[in-house]
Amino acid sequence: MTSHGIRNIVVLTGAGVSAESGVATFRGPDGLWEGHRVEDVATPQAFARDPALVHAFYDARRAKLGTIGPNAAHEALARLDCEWPGKLLLVTQNVDDLHERAGSKRLLHMHGELKRGWCLECDDRFEWDGVMGEGAVCPACATPGRVRPDIVWFGEMPYEMERIDEALQRCDLFVSIGTSGAVYPAAGFVQTARYCGARTLELNLEPSLASFLFDESRTGRAGELVPVWVEELLSGAHSAHSSPMSR
Ligand code: OAD
Repeated sequence: MTSHGIRNIVVLTGAGVSAESGVATFRGPDGLWEGHRVEDVATPQAFARDPALVHAFYDARRAKLGTIGPNAAHEALARLDCEWPGKLLLVTQNVDDLHERAGSKRLLHMHGELKRGWCLECDDRFEWDGVMGEGAVCPACATPGRVRPDIVWFGEMPYEMERIDEALQRCDLFVSIGTSGAVYPAAGFVQTARYCGARTLELNLEPSLASFLFDESRTGRAGELVPVWVEELLSGAHSAHSSPMSR
């Protein structure tokens, strides 16, 4: 145990953590995602119907990764990973690579990664950089035209759910950053953590759909809130274990 009774931490991040790096969030005011309806680009049905559109969408997002970088929130979480002596698991719903570029190691991409491909012919998954497109050739089985982005689409099972559930069950502190609480199973993590006795903290631009489930909710930009929270935690001043929490 650390001196303040927190040893195991699970952090969940969503699109809000990358917003200040220039990555569009999903549920903006107009309900569009970079000009597309989510159902047109983020479902297996969309891929079957119009693979060129879906590939173009993800190719553009992959290309964009080269023009953006981690922000202060990613960097603070990487600092936490480096300096936290207890167990830590950073679960991200984001498919960008900004957490790892900031230096996070104890990291899991539950919705897949832009920089990975998945061959529907031989079922292999592999790193992918640059354009994928409809004609992509699988590096494992050499079949063309059967590679898709290794992204978990609506209706598909997120990755590593067992490992995440285990971490949630044994964590003392669960922190949700920059996510709307609209997409399950991630939106249910706070309930699992609470049920298993963890303190819960939300950092978000505005109260999310799930705010009422958290012991404490802080509103503001991730690039400002996360460094402050990490500093509090590492210096032993975190409120989530010793004093009543504000809402
Ligand atoms: P959303 O776009 O639904 O929500 C982003 C959240 O971040 C909102 O609650 C915003 O208020 C908040 N936010 C925006 N800017 C912020 C900032 N600078 N600092 C802090 N918070 C900020 O994105 P997610 O909840 O991550 O899944 O979406 C969850 C999943 O839905 C995605 O992973 C994706 C999508 O369908 C798949 O593609 C499988």
